[in-house]
Amino acid sequence: MTITWDPTTFNPHDLAFLADPYPTYALFRDQAPLSVVQPYASTWVFRFADVRQMLDDSITFVKNPPGPPPPPVGLFSMGANLPEGLFSSDPPRHTELRAVLEPLFMEAIAQAPAVATATAEKLLGSLGARWELVSDYATPLPSTVLFTIMGIPADHWPVLLQWIATIAAAHDITQSIALRSLGATCAMALNTYFEEWILQCRHTPQPGLIGELCQAIGGRDGLTAEDVQVCCSDFAVAGYLSTTFLIGTALVHLLDNPDQAQLLRAQPDLIHNAVEEMLRIDAPAQLVDRVAAVDTKLGGTALPAGTKLTAVLGSADHDPTAFADPDTFNIQRDDTAQISFGDGIHFCIGAPLVRLVAPIAMAALVALPTLAVAGLAQWQTDPYLRAMTSLPLSMGAT
Ligand code: HEM
Repeated sequence: MTITWDPTTFNPHDLAFLADPYPTYALFRDQAPLSVVQPYASTWVFRFADVRQMLDDSITFVKNPPGPPPPPVGLFSMGANLPEGLFSSDPPRHTELRAVLEPLFMEAIAQAPAVATATAEKLLGSLGARWELVSDYATPLPSTVLFTIMGIPADHWPVLLQWIATIAAAHDITQSIALRSLGATCAMALNTYFEEWILQCRHTPQPGLIGELCQAIGGRDGLTAEDVQVCCSDFAVAGYLSTTFLIGTALVHLLDNPDQAQLLRAQPDLIHNAVEEMLRIDAPAQLVDRVAAVDTKLGGTALPAGTKLTAVLGSADHDPTAFADPDTFNIQRDDTAQISFGDGIHFCIGAPLVRLVAPIAMAALVALPTLAVAGLAQWQTDPYLRAMTSLPLSMGAT
């Protein structure tokens, strides 16, 4: 039966939608697979095949439309004098940057499993009978791994964590101008921090990824100090929070599906498949943006050059044409080719790190059989991110 429903009334900031976006995504996939969504003035793309086509075709669907960039306006204009990083560049610059950054990143993450294991043990070992997932575990674990890999001194971490949390909160366009301005100020502080830290690292070489990137400045790849500065900010902002979000939603799914948690305890080797399923069932980054560079078509819909587009990864990951029984959390699923890390040239550079850290983080939680929700979960209100801000927990005696 088709439910009568008007896609033009969709409000992506509606709290009921944010609490469970998947039934609404299903309506869009069935009845309006490409729809203009306000207040973003962007055409959201809901079906798996269309999302994949959009992300894989980096010539038609680009980060920056052809022509001169628009003059910087608004809160984030103070970063306008910095070069584009991986996130916001198109080829050929994107290709050059990725070629120099990816091998150094892959080398740096070799130490991640040891750091993650030691940190998980230390964090869980210090907890009492009642604790809070996001601040006590899901934030400190991946951030410790990331900052260690990057080579950021531990006494700098607390202030960086505060800035990055504020930058993420300010990404929600419904927040007050005051909060959004604070986010912009924190982004500026983060950029300034890396500018200064890179200067110091160039003067006195330091261990870690930033130290390695500093060594590459001025080499034949044309990497500049400003490129490294932007790259460090990108890594710092993108490099632990999505894993924080993943740990939160993944734990809720395990607690809601005790048979799956029990299966994981009985067959620990399932953890890698389980993490793919955790990424699929609740994509931490729900939306990613592009612009049509030329007049084109997607899913049979004509799109003039300049059309703003948003790939709805969370919807694609629940598309029944790609995944059997898509709303069921099944850690033994064969069809695990989720699209939560994106696809094509911008496929998440951090995915190999997540695939090292998340299994360790989740296996340590699964090993606590008396873990239970002990209060109301709180969710953030940005449709771009699927994340809890707080989940009170309790642990009883076994
Ligand atoms: C569960 C964790 C994560 C998720 C779900 C995630 C998701 C994504 C997605 C969807 C994209 C594609 C964006 C686009 O197409 O526009 C992306 C790109 C990116 N991610 Fe991640 N990410 C995660 C973890 C990380 C980590 C750990 C790092 C770094 C340490 C990282 C750094 C980046 C960077 C730099 C890009 C841009 C890559 C490019 O454009 O070539 N991410 N991520």
